[in-house]
Amino acid sequence: MEWLRSLMLPPQGSQFAGEVDNVYMGLFWLCGILFVGIAAAAIGFAWRYRYKPGRVTPHQTHNTTLEIVWTVIPLLLCVAIFFWGLNGWMKYAVAPGEAMEIQITAKKWLWQFEYPDGTRTANEIHVLVNKPVRFVMTSEDVLHDFFVPDMRVKHDIVPGRYTEVWFTPTVLGTHHVTCAEYCGKGHSDMQAKLVVDNEADFQKFMETGGTEWEDYKMKPAEWGRIQYERKGCSTCHSIDGSRIASGGPSWKGIWGKMEKLNDGKEVLVDADYVRESMMQPQAKIVAGFDPIMPTFQGLLREHEIQGLIAFIKSLGNNPNGGPPAPTVLSLPPKPAGASGASGTTGTK
Ligand code: CUA
Repeated sequence: MEWLRSLMLPPQGSQFAGEVDNVYMGLFWLCGILFVGIAAAAIGFAWRYRYKPGRVTPHQTHNTTLEIVWTVIPLLLCVAIFFWGLNGWMKYAVAPGEAMEIQITAKKWLWQFEYPDGTRTANEIHVLVNKPVRFVMTSEDVLHDFFVPDMRVKHDIVPGRYTEVWFTPTVLGTHHVTCAEYCGKGHSDMQAKLVVDNEADFQKFMETGGTEWEDYKMKPAEWGRIQYERKGCSTCHSIDGSRIASGGPSWKGIWGKMEKLNDGKEVLVDADYVRESMMQPQAKIVAGFDPIMPTFQGLLREHEIQGLIAFIKSLGNNPNGGPPAPTVLSLPPKPAGASGASGTTGTK
């Protein structure tokens, strides 16, 4: 019946998956058998005791044996299901002590991950295959829910407190992370990649931040365009001049423009203003927009910021000019072992 399981459920990516699926399929078959049995009995009795002229229903009392049987058997079934589920839940609830800890901060509308060494990423997490990993999660605004279908892990993220999940990934490659609690307009864009790496690829990721040593040869604006998608900017800022509902201003044609702010002042859209808007988004609010953008302080590396600035510039220059955007990315020194395009992380 493996074909049916794989038809109904996502691929199994963690040590939880087999157990969770067994409970699920067990309940599925139990429900199936009961449904067929009950429906057959209902149809059978309806036929057997259908109306016939002259047939009289005899006086009914009760049948103690029958009543005990139909009470006790379902009770035992329910208790068995409870303990079956509890057994899995207890394993799910407590992470092993040696698990690597990753902090998750969910906010409208992106995922921020922080590793024990302080490395931070947005919308992309790397974990080690066959090593338990524990996620400590909180929200900066509303309820979110960390859902990794392949890992059979799904847990609410609540503002003002910490919740936890853990699992041991068993399948290399990229798995999908999504938000499973409606959290506003950008809810369906709140997606992330979970990449399960082998030891070598994981070390490389921790040293270099993943594929950037393969991407950095691009022009700053191309690199910035990748960041625009990857860091979630695209959730709120269009690049075609349209306004995204309950989002921020479009990036098209703003470079070098005098932007009107909600306090009546004007500001030149230059590199400093763009950088400030990423790091302290509440500092200057464009007239007609709400102060809803989360800060990207610590989430963007310097050359990612430069790429984004170059990308904004590439979206149309205002005749007013404005200072030049970077034409070359300033990169941190290349770590040993991260050799250009030889990456095999499979994160692309
Ligand atoms: Cu976050 Cu839905």
